[in-house]
Amino acid sequence: MSEPEIAVFGAGSVGCYLGGRLLATGANVHFIGRARIAAEVAAHGLHCTDLHGADHRVAPGIARFSEDPDSVRSADVVLVTVKSAATDVAARELAGRLKPGALVISFQNGLRNADVLRAGLPGVTVLTGMVPFNVLARGQGRFHHGSDGVLASEYHPALKDLGLIEVFGRSGLVLICHADMRAVQWGKLLLNLNNAINALSGVPLKEELSQRGFRRCLAAAQAETLALLDAANIPVAQLTKVPPHWLPRLLSLPDFLFTRLAKQMVAIDPLARSSTWEDLEAGRATEVDYINGAVVKLAESMGWQAPVNATLVALIRDAERGGRRDWTARELHAALEAAAR
Ligand SMILES: NC(=O)c1ccc[n+]([C@@H]2O[C@H](COP(=O)([O-])OP(=O)(O)OC[C@H]3O[C@@H](n4cnc5c(N)ncnc54)[C@H](OP(=O)(O)O)[C@@H]3O)[C@@H](O)[C@H]2O)c1
Repeated sequence: MSEPEIAVFGAGSVGCYLGGRLLATGANVHFIGRARIAAEVAAHGLHCTDLHGADHRVAPGIARFSEDPDSVRSADVVLVTVKSAATDVAARELAGRLKPGALVISFQNGLRNADVLRAGLPGVTVLTGMVPFNVLARGQGRFHHGSDGVLASEYHPALKDLGLIEVFGRSGLVLICHADMRAVQWGKLLLNLNNAINALSGVPLKEELSQRGFRRCLAAAQAETLALLDAANIPVAQLTKVPPHWLPRLLSLPDFLFTRLAKQMVAIDPLARSSTWEDLEAGRATEVDYINGAVVKLAESMGWQAPVNATLVALIRDAERGGRRDWTARELHAALEAAAR
């Protein structure tokens, strides 16, 4: 079987990390993205590390990086790694450029990105994928995978026919196929509810999750979401060592018990922050509408309310306009409690 040609469309943190590891282990990968990332990769190459000690390097001048969407034309597989708000434009740029039979995988957060791609790419096989771990862009071509988890995708025979599972496996990136990706997406969204809280806390993830007050904020956002999912009969997959419905109770435990019982949840690189924090730092719009906002939308569709998640959306909107990003755990918890009353 010949090596599939893989294009990473929207090479930022996730795209450079996945593509960098695949390229470093012999896969046929090229990148499509912005000039600033192209310049960084040209000058420094790629250096992809993970919390378990994996260390993959691509020397400067090796990675093929283009700003032109036309370079997707020869790809057998396209990994879409743009932020949710950019998916619509990505679909428009991919339309008419994909070769017959090309496989598209959305490795994005949120619930609807694969649907947006499918709507914009009729006749193309688009798979829902998921990156469960955090990737931190450290500058100078360095991308660090700072928390646990393995890649997920919905199953399609093309994954096997193209040898893609083996290509990922060779790089040390395990790709697991799931029968119900919607449940996996809700399971991930439940964890991503913390993105907003982390950005509002102004501290790294490890430090934030070590404080009970911030964990209680996350517990409140998760409990609200789980109640809605239960009422709507929507299944949610277990992505951590404990079942999703136990998470709010686990998070609410005192610090000394939590750090003992939830080692995996705090096994995060001390520097790692949420992508919402990164977006605010860079002055970009965040994905809050696609994460906490998805909970608010679900509530509205059921004639319910989701005041905790609605408040987190409002606070991130305010932060996008330059508002506060230094909430203490006590202040944020009080604001969410007041909203829920
Ligand atoms: N970072 C993480 O830790 C992490 C972990 C798991 C999942 N995710 C999810 O993965 C997805 C990607 O996140 P990320 O953090 O990798 O985002 P990112 O660092 O912003 O990377 C996306 C890149 O794609 C570029 N882009 C956007 N539209 C494009 C287009 N039409 N053509 C070419 N390039 C384009 C963006 O440039 P501009 O900024 O100039 O538009 C940006 O450089 C999101 O859904 C995120 O929630 C992220």
